[in-house]
Amino acid sequence: MNINLKYISKSYHQGSQTITPLKDISFELNSGQMASLLGPSGSGKSTLFQLICGIQSPSSGEIWLDNRRFDTLSTDEKTNFRGRNIGIIFQNYALVPFLTAKENIMLPLQINNISDAQNISLRWLDKVGLANRAHHFPNQLSGGEQQRIAIARALCIRPTILLADEPTGQLDTETGQLIIDLMFNFIDELKITALIVTHDLALAQRCPRVLELKKGQLQL
Ligand SMILES: Nc1ncnc2c1ncn2[C@@H]1O[C@H](COP(=O)(O)OP(=O)(O)OP(=O)(O)O)[C@@H](O)[C@H]1O
Ligand SMILES: [Mg+2]
Repeated sequence: MNINLKYISKSYHQGSQTITPLKDISFELNSGQMASLLGPSGSGKSTLFQLICGIQSPSSGEIWLDNRRFDTLSTDEKTNFRGRNIGIIFQNYALVPFLTAKENIMLPLQINNISDAQNISLRWLDKVGLANRAHHFPNQLSGGEQQRIAIARALCIRPTILLADEPTGQLDTETGQLIIDLMFNFIDELKITALIVTHDLALAQRCPRVLELKKGQLQL
């Protein structure tokens, strides 16, 4: 499934002040292509991420996913499309605190009415090396373990698009490396179109394509 952004701009108005974190962004990721989105703090990475997820709408320009216009869909249509097709890994993991590791992974499967959610969840716990943590709650897991659950939760629906915002943000280098290896293997195996937001140059350069944002504009 491809991602195509055409002349995307995003502005926020606060009183008399206008902030424009994104200015005229255009790029296309072909189906199965993997890219990183690199840029310093405040360059607009998370804003762009939220536009592609459909959590926010652009001020101007067009977002096309799978050759269909996405940004003009209704909130419900966006939610449905996202639930079925897009795996999202948030910077702060965003696990549901009152659900166990197993239940967190089951959640997107249940939303998609996939039968056998329990067994699929257990298989993914095993794949990310956490079979023995199924009944732990997020606050009983280390940061790296929570991140692996977040990866499993994003990938268990077999998404065609994966969006990850700072997947190694709060991890030490060694743990971050292992988790990234795991994520890259799954992306390869499932032939996912992936955009990985990071300010980590080493991580960015592991992707075949590097997009660089500076002050809201893509560097060519
Ligand atoms: N809801 C908002 N209202 C007003 N300004 C915002 C809003 N969201 C983001 N901004 C501004 O837009 C700019 C880009 O923010 P964004 O979060 O996209 O940066 P980033 O590249 O993800 O940075 P970081 O690496 O620190 O996460 C910042 O200057 C920020 O203050
Ligand atoms: Mg950010």
